[in-house]
Amino acid sequence: MNRRWLIGAVTVAGLVTATMAVNLVQAGAATQTLHQLAAAKGKYFGSATDNGELSDTAYTAVLGGGEFGQTTPGNSMKWDATEPTRGTFSFTRGDAIVSFAQAHNMTVRGHTLVWHSQLPSWVGSLPAAEVQPAMVNHITQVATHFKGKVVAWDVVNEPFNEDGTYRATPFYNAMGSAYIATALRAARAADPDAKLYVNDYNTDGLGAKSDAMYNLVKQLKADGVPIDGVGFQAHLAIQYGFPSQMQQNLQRFADLGVDVAITELDVRMVLPRDATKDATQATYYSNVVKACVAVTRCVGVTIWDYTDKYSWVPSVFSGQGAALPWDENLQKKPTAYNAIVTALGGTVESPSASPSSSTSSSPPPAGACTATYRIVNSWPGGFQGEVVVANPAGRTGWTVTWTFANGQQVSQLWNGTVSQSGATVTVRNAAWNGTGTVTFGFLASWNGTNTAPVPTCA
Ligand code: XIL
Repeated sequence: MNRRWLIGAVTVAGLVTATMAVNLVQAGAATQTLHQLAAAKGKYFGSATDNGELSDTAYTAVLGGGEFGQTTPGNSMKWDATEPTRGTFSFTRGDAIVSFAQAHNMTVRGHTLVWHSQLPSWVGSLPAAEVQPAMVNHITQVATHFKGKVVAWDVVNEPFNEDGTYRATPFYNAMGSAYIATALRAARAADPDAKLYVNDYNTDGLGAKSDAMYNLVKQLKADGVPIDGVGFQAHLAIQYGFPSQMQQNLQRFADLGVDVAITELDVRMVLPRDATKDATQATYYSNVVKACVAVTRCVGVTIWDYTDKYSWVPSVFSGQGAALPWDENLQKKPTAYNAIVTALGGTVESPSASPSSSTSSSPPPAGACTATYRIVNSWPGGFQGEVVVANPAGRTGWTVTWTFANGQQVSQLWNGTVSQSGATVTVRNAAWNGTGTVTFGFLASWNGTNTAPVPTCA
């Protein structure tokens, strides 16, 4: 994806006049993907995913298209997925996500070995003396299977209550807090190369719960227990405020000699979305990413899927949603997305360079432009399209419109700004390519028939 953007930008660079050079610099910077920007800072930017979504080709075009260098299976490596009945293991779903990741240059965080939730009932029914051997066997089997395929494991997930006391899980009830050290040691024995994490939510800022995590990690280090990192889920909600002193909190863990990672970031709001909530959400995204950037041992940021289409939020937090940087139509939300780009040190086009303002301040368009549509490449469920726009001399902006006949949906577009309403697609020039002959490209979904529409240009 990014390579195509760059090629597109270079093509445009060859066609426009030298006076556009400043805009081209801005446009070129904006085409850096989130992961490229993070990688330039020695970190990753990732997105969770799940098996069902992998058959949505418009979705996978973005997931594997370069924005993300890491993924976490949202459900497929959990206990209920991997050992639904005692001693019977299933790795099919986890393997599918690993394959996708490997095919798209993404690392995988394993999630999660020991957790009270999504835990088959047989574990909770075991006599106390059998819980430890069952837990160690589970860790050993799962971590051995995925050895070499995951870079990290959330070995223990969500061990604490809100007040910092230990959560009374089947593991805690059988073994006390020592289950955490036992689990970490079993994971290390099974996969010595994976980074071993404890992961929790509402530990993102300073507070009783993060103090408890801090004390646990300090003790584990003192006891020589293998612990490499602490995961901060960062499931945030704009109506509850931003976590207190997040950067300082991450830093105090780093100072204990462990890595830290933002593992499940999303920023939900009470629906419906509006511009004010979007702006607040963007500052939350920015603050989290900036906190990670500022802490050397923060290895990366994972958002808990990238699109509202597949967010867990609406099903769990009634009336809430819109938590991710891409909307339910797989379109980037400019506010949240640009905030992340900026926090990662990237550049986005300044509003003053936006197509609408430059168009309105320009002389009226001279003569009609033409647009030629073609399908470049097509595969089951998805296709890449391209439109060549020819502008007569004197024209400084263009708008191309077409109507899809078969329910096609644009998911990504480069070298222009797109909106799709129902079947109608409208594409306007980017800040730097309003003149001359211009090519823009896009990815879209299709099913059954993929009739090429005849676009109009104005
Ligand atoms: C969520 C998944 O996203 C949902 O699909 C599933 O129904 C419930 O679990 N903390 C975690 C994640 O560590 O595993 C959870 O994932 C979200 C909260």
